[in-house]
Amino acid sequence: MSTDSLFQPFKLKSLDIKNRIVMAPMTRSFSPNGIPTDEVAAYYEKRAEGEVGLILSEGTVIDRPSSSNDGNVPHFYGEKALAGWKKVIDGVHAAGGQMGPQIWHMGIMDNHHSGWVPPVPFEGPSGLNRPGNTNGSTMTTKDIEDAILAYGKAAADAKKAGFDTVEIHGAHGYLIDQFFWEGTNERTDVYGGKTLAERTRFGTDVIKEVRRQVGEDFAIIIRLSQFKPSAYDYKLAVNPQEMEAWLNPLVDAGADILHCSQRRFWEPEFEGSDLNFAGWAKKITGAATITVGSVGLSGDFFGAFAGETSQPTSLEELNRRFDRGDFDLVGVGRPLLSDPNWVSKIRKGETDKLKGFSKEALAELVLE
Ligand SMILES: Cc1cc2nc3c(=O)[nH]c(=O)nc-3n(C[C@H](O)[C@H](O)[C@H](O)COP(=O)(O)O)c2cc1C
Repeated sequence: MSTDSLFQPFKLKSLDIKNRIVMAPMTRSFSPNGIPTDEVAAYYEKRAEGEVGLILSEGTVIDRPSSSNDGNVPHFYGEKALAGWKKVIDGVHAAGGQMGPQIWHMGIMDNHHSGWVPPVPFEGPSGLNRPGNTNGSTMTTKDIEDAILAYGKAAADAKKAGFDTVEIHGAHGYLIDQFFWEGTNERTDVYGGKTLAERTRFGTDVIKEVRRQVGEDFAIIIRLSQFKPSAYDYKLAVNPQEMEAWLNPLVDAGADILHCSQRRFWEPEFEGSDLNFAGWAKKITGAATITVGSVGLSGDFFGAFAGETSQPTSLEELNRRFDRGDFDLVGVGRPLLSDPNWVSKIRKGETDKLKGFSKEALAELVLE
C-alpha cells in the first residue's frame, strides 16, 4: 500500500509543511514550575528530525491564575517559560520542522492527584466541570474579558518567538468546551443560552482576539471534540445543521484549520454517511481540517490511559478517506510518544520497525 499522498506538502498562510502528518498535542507534565526544560526541547526536536510535518505542542497554559491544575504543565507566559519555548521552536526549525503551541485554559478541573493546586479556585462558565459537579467559581464578565485577552497574548507571543501557527484548545471538556456544553454552561448572559450557536460566543470571541493579535497571515487552528472526558459518547452537535451552527461562526471569526478530535478516526459522525468529524467539518465550512484518533494503532487513547497496549495497524482506511478529500492533515498521537521516527518509517515503508504503543512511553520523554 502506498502512503505517497500523505507525503505531499501543505501550505496555508504561515504554514509550509512538508507532509500531512501532524503530531497531536499531548500533555507530558515534564516542565517543573511551568518552565519547559532542555529535555522538552530535545523531545520535540527529535520528532522534527523524524520528519513530522507539523508538531503541535502539549497543552501550554495561558496567563490566568487558575488556568492549570498541574504544576508540571508548561506555561505559555512569563519570561522563563517563553525562553524555554524559544529553544523548542529554534530546535524544531533547525531540524526542518514546523510547530505551533497548543494554548490552553483548563477551566474547572478536578483537583490533581499530586495535590498541587493553583493559587485561586478554578474558573469556568458556571463553576461546573460536569453536570452537578461544582469545583470552582463562575467567571464574571471581567474574568471572561481578561481570559480572552490572555489567549490573544499567548498567540502573539507564539508568533513573536517564531512559531509557525497556534492551536487554540477548544476540545475535551476544558474552558472553551465548558462554554460550548450546556452541561457546564448555565449562564444567562451573552456567553450562555439554549442553543449551541449561542454558547459558541466565548469561542468566537477568543478566536477574534487571537486573530487581532497575530494578524491576517498567521494560521490559526482550533481543536474541537464532540465527546467530553466525563461523557465519551456525547455529541454537542447531533446533526449536520447543528454542526453548521457551531462551526461556521468559528471559521467566520478567523479559524483557518479545524482539528477534529475523535477516539477513532474511522467512526462516522452522523447516520447515513461514513464521513467522520473532520469530513463533515470540511464539507460544512470549506475550511481545512485535521483528523485524528487511533491512526496506525489497534486501541484508542482512552484505553491507553487505563494502561492498555496498542499494536501497529494498516493505514489503508486512512488513505482511502484522505484520497477522497475528506481532510487535509492527519494527527498522530501515541505512535509519536513511543517513537520519534514513526513518520520516517512510514515514508520508507518500514512497517516491520513500527513500535506500537505501551504505557511505558508515558513515563518518560522518549528520545530515540
Ligand atoms: C498522554 C496524552 C496526553 C494528551 N494530552 C492532550 C493535550 O494536552 N491536548 C489535547 O488536545 N489532546 C491531548 N491528548 C489527546 C491526543 O492529542 C490525541 O487526540 C489522542 O491521543 C488520539 O490520538 P492517538 O490515537 O493517535 O493517540 C493526549 C493524549 C495522550 C495519549
